[in-house]
Parts: sequence; C-alpha cells; structure tokens
Amino acid sequence: MDPIASVSSMETIVSLARRRGFVFPSSEIYGGLGSCYDYGPLGVELKRNVKDAWWRSMVQLREDIVGLDASIIMHPRVWEASGHVNCFHDELVECTFCKQRARIDHVDQIEENCKAQKKSKCVWGEPRQFNLMFKTHLGPMEDSANAVYLRPETAQGIFVNFNNVLDSTRVKLPFGIAQQGKSFRNEITTRRFTFRMAEFEQMEMEYFVKPGEDEKWFTYWRNARLEWFKDLGVSKERLRHRDHAADELAHYSKACTDVEYFFPFGWSEIEGIASRSDYDLKQHAEHSKKELIYRDQVSNEKVVPYVIEPALGTDRAILTFLVDAYCEEELDGNSRVVLKLHPRLAPYKAAIFPLLRKEGHPEKAQEITKIIKERYNCFYDESGNIGRRYRRQDEIGTPCCITIDHQTMEDDTVTTRNRDTLEQKRVKVSELFSELGEVLGF
Ligand code: GAP
Repeated sequence: MDPIASVSSMETIVSLARRRGFVFPSSEIYGGLGSCYDYGPLGVELKRNVKDAWWRSMVQLREDIVGLDASIIMHPRVWEASGHVNCFHDELVECTFCKQRARIDHVDQIEENCKAQKKSKCVWGEPRQFNLMFKTHLGPMEDSANAVYLRPETAQGIFVNFNNVLDSTRVKLPFGIAQQGKSFRNEITTRRFTFRMAEFEQMEMEYFVKPGEDEKWFTYWRNARLEWFKDLGVSKERLRHRDHAADELAHYSKACTDVEYFFPFGWSEIEGIASRSDYDLKQHAEHSKKELIYRDQVSNEKVVPYVIEPALGTDRAILTFLVDAYCEEELDGNSRVVLKLHPRLAPYKAAIFPLLRKEGHPEKAQEITKIIKERYNCFYDESGNIGRRYRRQDEIGTPCCITIDHQTMEDDTVTTRNRDTLEQKRVKVSELFSELGEVLGF
C-alpha cells in the first residue's frame, strides 16, 4: 500500500484520540479552548513513553549529554538577550469586514478555503507586529517592574545554566545539555489539533562544539534525529528533511533543517535542527556581564563553543506516532482498527483476559496481571467476548493479549496473541516474561 496515499484523515485521528482517551479538548464542559488540549488516561501513558524514549536515546544511552530541568518563568532579561522581546513576532492582519484575524503567511490558505466554501473574500488591513510571548506578573503588583514571560522555548534555560553545568560536572567538548518541558506561544492561528498549540511541550538539546566542528556535528544530528523516528517505527516514506534556504535563516543561524512528516494536511515540520553558532552564549555574556566560555583543561585555551540544536515538539511527535500507527485492516471478513505503535510507545504492553467470569479464571488472570505489572504496564479486562476484547486492545495499540482458559487451570499455560502478526501461542506462565520480551523487543 502507498504510505502517502493511505495516510488517515485528521477527523479519524481526532475521533479515535477522543473516544479512547488519548486527547481531549481542554475545559470541554465550558465549550473547549481552541489552542489547548488535555491528555487522557491513555494519552498520558503514550506521552510518558515518548518522552522516555527521547530521554533514553538523548541522555541515558550517551556519555556526552547531561539533563536539566529549568524553571518556566525566568528573569525577563533572558528574553531581551535572546532576542525574543524584539524579534519573536508574527505579522497579524485583520479583515475589515468579518474581523477575522490571521497570520500573514496563512492568508492564501484562508482565501482558498473561502473560495471553496463560496464565502465572500476578506479585505485585509495593514499587517501589525504581534509578539508571541505570554506576559504576566510575578508578585502581587501588576506593574512593568515585575513583568515576566512564560518561556516560548526551553532552550534559553540551557544557555543561562551553561556555567552551572560546567562547574558541577566534568563535561568536555563536544557535550550536550538536554531538557524537556512546557513552552508557551500566543499563536495567532491554532489549527490542526495538537500540531499548533498555545501551551505545548518541547524536548530540546543544545550540543556545544569547538568552532570549526559545527558543520560535522550539524550533519550528525540532522541524520540522527530522522533515524530516531524511523527506529520508533515511523514509515520512512512519510519522513523527509527540508533544508532551509539562506533567506529563511535567522541572522545568527548558519544552517537549519526541519524533519518533516507527511500529515493528512501535507508535509509539515516536526523537529528543527539548527546550527546556532556562538550567538546565544555571546548574547547572554554581553547582557549578564558574566563570562560564558569553555576552558580546555589541557591546553588552557578559552573558547566560546558553537551550538547545534535539535528541537522537537513532544505533542507533534505524539501526533506523528498516532497518525503513522493508525491502520484499518480486513480480518475474517470484518474490518479492524489497529494502532501499530512501537511497543516502547504503546500505553499498555499487554492485556490479560480470563476466558470466563467463573471457574477460577478471573482469580488466575488477576494473579498473572499482578506479576506482569511489576515489569510492564498492562490491563486486565473481563468484559465482552474475546473477539471484542482483542479489538479494543488493537485500537489502542496493545502489542500482546494473554488469555486464561480451561487449560490454564490444568497445566499453567496461557494463550498469547500478537497484535501485528495475529499469531497465537501456548506459553507456560513461568515463561511469560521471556515471551513478552520477544514480542516487545525489550
Ligand atoms: N529552540 C528552538 C525552537 O524553539 P522552533 O522551531 O520554534 O524552535 C521547535 O520549535 C519545535 O517545537 C517545532 O519543530 C515543533 O515541533 C514544536 N513547536 C513549536 N511551536 C509549537 C506550537 N505552537 N505547538 C506545538 N508544537 C510547537
């Protein structure tokens, strides 16, 4: 099947996400809040697994990257130094008739939609600059002296902690500092579900290198970040790099590449990999009047490192995994919906079913559930016929179902059923962990 042509519609994904408790509209009983979403019982498991997979690959499996968790509210001068106060703007236009507001780069799309829906054309006014940072006040006085911002990116928390990390660890160039956490942007147009939100999460890593080695490391991270998605099962045909043209680059940026995914609404950015030169460290050094340099222990040479930054939106990664995993298949003359999530990401790794609600099956199934829970997140279900129970687990991506039946009571074996191959096996309870390890791959 052509992976591009077979991408599911956004309506299908939004409906599944809501129905099965992955993602809910925020404050829904009050009519929802367009740009904000809540992760439900399954969504929160998926989100933890996505964040863990990133942390594992970016920090725990490496020798050269350490973690950080900086505060969301930072000194307001951070955002002057970073350029966000003066430059983090979108151009906003307003229709003089219907009062609709839009980002200037979204106007063409809006006009096409109006034409398709035979609505009258908008008459756009002059563009205005609109800063995307949320402003608030720290303390009880609402005056400009205590104005602060909700961070629009996690990256600056890393730059301002550069000296703290150098002084408290033994990192040597090249090294990285990684961080996951909430960011906030007062986006003018929020559409496409969780793709563009006002409150979202980022997973960013600043990789500090010797000047002159930046091109080599940019190429390394550009490739490594696309491979991460492939390793977690995303179809390679729906992933690509998009290198920014020279006129798209920020003034301090030497190069930038987006990792794009083919969503139902077309190719769109999921992660940016930027070569940021020494701009951020130099800006903060100048504004704070503190030296932000790396001193080589052997040669005593001082350098301001260059930075390569892979910056991923957690919510966009989750949306990518959901869209990519969604399949509809024919099975025994019926159709089944299956989320072919990578086992590491699946909310539940296994589901345990007693065949009957009597004859000791539930007690035995509960006993097995308790044992499996020690290692893997799993789900006990005794309601409905077995076929329906399988379908419910397929739809949320559970890789393995385990059924307890009459034979279990005689010889302590259970039936396992693989979500993807549909293969069923008779397995001894004492060998369940090794069977699960084989199905899940960890
Ligand atoms: N520190 C660099 C930085 O923040 P960015 O391209 O503005 O770069 C990085 O953001 C990633 O954060 C994007 O590739 C996207 O995945 C995610 N992101 C940005 N704005 C977002 C929004 N409004 N809603 C959801 N995710 C967003």
